[in-house]
Amino acid sequence: MPDTHVVILAAGKGTRMKSTLPKVLHQVAGAPIIDYVLATARRLGPASVTVVVGHGAALVREHLAHRCDLRLVTQEPQLGTGDALRQTAPLFAGVTGTLVMLSGDVPLLTASTLEHLVATHRSIDAAATVVTALFDNPSGYGRVVRDAGDIVRIVEERDANDAERRLHEVNAGIYAFDIAPLFAALAGIAPANAQGEYYLPDLVGIYRQAGRAVGTVRVGNPDEIRGVNSRKELAQVSRIVRQRRNDELMAAGVTIEDPDTTYVGPDVEIGSDTILHPCVFLDGRTRIGSKCEIHANVRVVDSTLADGVTIFNFCVVNGATIASLARIGPFAHLRPGADVREEAHVGNFVELKKTVLGAGSKANHLAYLGDASIGEGVNIGAGTITCNYDGERKHRTVVEDGAFVGSDTTLVAPVRVGKGAYVAAGSSIVKDVPPGALGIARGQQVNKEGWVARKKRKA
Ligand code: UD1
Ligand code: CA
Repeated sequence: MPDTHVVILAAGKGTRMKSTLPKVLHQVAGAPIIDYVLATARRLGPASVTVVVGHGAALVREHLAHRCDLRLVTQEPQLGTGDALRQTAPLFAGVTGTLVMLSGDVPLLTASTLEHLVATHRSIDAAATVVTALFDNPSGYGRVVRDAGDIVRIVEERDANDAERRLHEVNAGIYAFDIAPLFAALAGIAPANAQGEYYLPDLVGIYRQAGRAVGTVRVGNPDEIRGVNSRKELAQVSRIVRQRRNDELMAAGVTIEDPDTTYVGPDVEIGSDTILHPCVFLDGRTRIGSKCEIHANVRVVDSTLADGVTIFNFCVVNGATIASLARIGPFAHLRPGADVREEAHVGNFVELKKTVLGAGSKANHLAYLGDASIGEGVNIGAGTITCNYDGERKHRTVVEDGAFVGSDTTLVAPVRVGKGAYVAAGSSIVKDVPPGALGIARGQQVNKEGWVARKKRKA
């Protein structure tokens, strides 16, 4: 849309959030609110996108710094939404066409509603067109006042009388404006209201009194225009985003046992016939194959799971790669650089960091494997620990294919256990064990015959 320009207001203080972080940087289901608004704006294919920043401007600018296609304008001080839009006047000198104004705190709006807004606005040749919705509970929003069906003005809740407060049609804070008369009209807004601010919605009354056409577009699903003004609304909107995401995944063939407690971030990919049990959190750049099963209370971040992986209950998986048919948990911790190969098993209370666990290998109980390369078909006994850190530097442990490491072994790195070698239980291995050898490094057992009886006699 070459003669359509988008302006996003994001300068407000967000007082009701009670936060030091600017409101538009608060996260909804894993991404800052402003990112949702920008993504929707972009889908309109506008000639320009301008963001008005103010409160916490440095942080918002920093967040938007890498988006070279944006124009940023500062509003200081923040005197209301009408004043905010006015700050963009220099950018629109001599420009004609349609200005679509979005609120930086309304993240659920769809691009199709915006397309509908612009099409309606143009077809009726309006000075302004307002997006509205019917809310069962409209409290906190500006109300749309109509006369014989036509919009005549918008009144903020604080300034509304009892009859106006009972109106259920609300202003979404999203508009299309004809650019030509806009900035002269904005100059006519006065801060004559309870907050002493310049209210952008006052334009509706101004235009109507001047005999200009003002249109409305009502959204079918009021959730689309929910604003985030408080932490409670942040939670409500996050919930809707998660529901939408879960609905998409289920439509694509993923089983989600309890969508109410399943959190899947925007960049996560999941293959079909994968099953997610309750209270699963998947986030970051995570890719999960098909036919995987993720049991309850598991968190997976920035990790890749191939097909047919099972993760049992209460695991934390972060920055890991898990090959097909591997089984993890319950109660396992895979940290960055954990690389679990085909059909390997990582059992309860096992932690892996920067470690390859080769195909078919098993570390089933109570182990710490850090900075290690474990070959294929290796058995890591219960309680095995790689001592990878000498207080200054990290060192590697290598366990070659087919080796058997007995329970309660400490492997003091750097050290290597050769192919097919055995390590006796309870050993502290400080030297390499050659291929095929038995490494044994523990105190010799001595049995003292009759010792108990002698002790009792002395007493
Ligand atoms: C606004 C509308 C209200 C509507 C609601 C929908 C006004 C006066 N009221 O109310 O009719 O129902 O949105 O969500 O517009 N902002 C600035 N500079 C300012 C003030 C605000 O950039 O000086 C930005 C905010 O950062 C925010 C947006 O404008 O992104 C809306 O401001 P907010 O204070 O949240 O307005 P509401 O009270 O929600
Ligand atoms: Ca708001």
